[in-house]
Formats: sequence, C-alpha cells, structure tokens
Amino acid sequence: MKPMGALPPEFAQQDGLLAIGGRTAANWTAQAGDTPLFVYDMEIVAARIARFRAAMPAIDLHYAIKANPHADLLTAIAPLVDGLDVASAGELEKALTFKPAQAISFAGPGKRDDELVVAISAGATLNVESEGEAARAFAIGERLGQTPRMAVRVNPDIELRGSGMRMGGRASPFGVDAVRAAALVKAIVAAGADWRGFHIYAGSQALDAGAIVETQAATIALAARLADEAGCAPPLVNLGGGFGVPYFAGDVALDVERVGDALAESLAARPQTLADTRFAIELGRWLVAEAGVYLTRVIDIKQSQGETFVIVDGGLNHQLAASGNFGTVVRRNYPIAVASRMGDLSTEPVTVVGPLCTPLDRLGDKVALPSVEVGDLIAIFMAGAYGASASPAAFLGHPPAIEIVTGL
Ligand SMILES: Cc1ncc(COP(=O)(O)O)c(C=O)c1O
Repeated sequence: MKPMGALPPEFAQQDGLLAIGGRTAANWTAQAGDTPLFVYDMEIVAARIARFRAAMPAIDLHYAIKANPHADLLTAIAPLVDGLDVASAGELEKALTFKPAQAISFAGPGKRDDELVVAISAGATLNVESEGEAARAFAIGERLGQTPRMAVRVNPDIELRGSGMRMGGRASPFGVDAVRAAALVKAIVAAGADWRGFHIYAGSQALDAGAIVETQAATIALAARLADEAGCAPPLVNLGGGFGVPYFAGDVALDVERVGDALAESLAARPQTLADTRFAIELGRWLVAEAGVYLTRVIDIKQSQGETFVIVDGGLNHQLAASGNFGTVVRRNYPIAVASRMGDLSTEPVTVVGPLCTPLDRLGDKVALPSVEVGDLIAIFMAGAYGASASPAAFLGHPPAIEIVTGL
C-alpha cells in the first residue's frame, strides 16, 4: 500500500455520496451526459480569495490563468481579482474579454513578434524577459505608433526554498539577471516606454510559509536596490507567488496568515524608494486547485500477479499531473476516493489506471480504496489546476474531458 494525499477540507468530512457544489458526483455526470468530467466549484475559489484578502496587507491579487483558463472559470474569477497574468497571445486574447488591458501582464520567454504586436496594441504590460525582447518591443511600438507598457522581469539572485519549481537563484531563461536589470530599466525609460516596474518570480508550489516570507522580504529589498541603481521608482512590484497546495501524503497546507502578517511588516518597513509603489502577488494553483474534482468511471477491474487494477475511462491525457508526469521526480498519489463510498473504510490496495497504452497512465498507485465495482465513479481531487489544459489531450485520440463550472 502506498499513501495518498489528504482530501481537501471541503470534501474530507463527507460520508456516502460525494457532493460537489451541493450536488452528487452522479448528478454531475448525468448532467454532463458522459465521463470523464472536471467539476470546478467557484464557491471554493471565492472562499480562497476572501481568505487571501483577509490575510494580506493591501496588495493586488493577480490570477495566473495558465493554472486553469476555462472560460466559465475566468468569467467567475475575473471580478474577484485585480489582474490576470498570461503567458501567450492566446491567453492574452482570452484574458482581454474579462479584464481591461491595464490589468493584464504577459510573461514568458520567447514572445514572438506577432504576440508583442497583440500585447502592445492592446496596451497590456509586457513582463520583459530579455534585452532582445525589449528591443523588439520598442521597434514594434514605434511601428504601431504606440507606447509599450513594460515591466522588467528579473531573474532574482534568490531562490524560493522548498519550492516544487525553482525559478530564481540560478541561470535561467526567465527574466534578466539581477545584475543587468537596472541597465534595462534605464534603457526602457530612455526609449520613452511606459515602465511599469518589476516582476520577480522566484518559484512555485512552496508550502513552507517561512520560505515564502524570506523570499518576499528579499524580493522587496532587491526591487529597492534595483530601483536605486536605475534611479527611478517602480509603479508596481510583482512579488511573484509560489503559494503551494498539499497534493501528497505528509504535505501541510500553507499558513497564508503567517505570510500575510510578515508581508505587512516587510511593507511597513520598506525602503523609501518604494514608498509609492503598489505590490502584487500572482497565484495560480493556490486559487483553483482544491476547487476542482475529476470524475472518471470504472470500466474494468482485473487481477494481475496478485495486484488489483481498476481501469477507468480517464487518464494522463486529462490529468498528467495526477499521473505524476508533470514535473515531479518521484510519482506520488493525489487524493482519490470512490464517489459513492465516501468515508467508507478502505479494504485492499488497488492500482487505478487509465485507458492509455502506457505504464505511465496511473492515477493511483496501490491506494487503499473501499471496494470498487465496474461503473463506479472515482474522484481525483486537487484537479482544479494544471488539469485539462496541461495534459496531452490528443494523445491516443480519446475524447477531451468535459468541464463544468459551478457556484458562479
Ligand atoms: C511567471 C509565473 N507566474 C505564475 C505561475 C503560476 O504558478 P502557480 O500555479 O504555482 O501559482 C507560474 C508557474 O509556473 C509562473 O511561471
């Protein structure tokens, strides 16, 4: 038997039939007409956002739409956040239907010229990742007769300790090394662009509040130092994000209130250069992961060499992350349950696999589940972020997962 992550608190106390947004899993699949299916409960997202606002000092909250770009989810989340962060012209075009361009920032190395054209024409902020990108943006701005809005994405000389994905403190394709950032700011200002400030993103999926507190304090100090070097105060410092969620056994949820208290102190004591600066945090998974449940139906159950395999109709083609193939070194089990037997004592370990012809297609590895029958619905939790849009949906030609947003 291998451990699995704890069910999110919103679902952990349920007995009998799994309910999502007040309706049973079976009810959702009946409405959808088929499985597999993602259900995203926006009441859970709204509660997360309310918790963030209560915990944090007066800063902006941006949603990184890469975590879940479903249009109905964006409709519901956009009014609750101050900005949207995008990573391609495709995401930008989507975001522009929900927020004015001034509230949208575009990060990502390798922005193509046609993407810069879309962003500059719309008036979105480019989080500029290199001197070369800045030069292309100036030229495009001139050609369009439009002043580009540009923030400098800094590759910080700090890393976010304990983060699942580190994006600072090392050689990186993301951002401009801190030692060259001030020179780039000067060039942007000299070129007459609208300099919006700094974007400093040090990592993702951190559960250790102490590490986030440390990184945020170092980020504020770095922004102040760079602003002094550049000789101009940034209108905005985007402190990055990195708030993680507990996917696996032993993970403990992030103490956001502790992060908020420490950030309030750091901001109160910030250097004079940043006195008039606004601050933002950009989050993806922390806002939406726990709100999503993936429901997949048992097609077959079979034994092989003493092991029980539960074969379901959805797999890594929709849930790459839950299968352990999205940036994790060691495969571990997401929280998983039988939707009609919530709270039942587990019987024997089973391995839950998808229909794809690859041993990578494993949604639960020797997990303890109540007895399962063909036709049952299996629920995989923590499915609201990096699910449908981050999985190879075309692989092996199965239909895409259905997605339903509730609690709008
Ligand atoms: C620049 C940037 N912003 C936001 C995010 C969202 O991260 P998360 O979903 O972990 O909050 C990422 C993730 O890679 C990122 O690279």
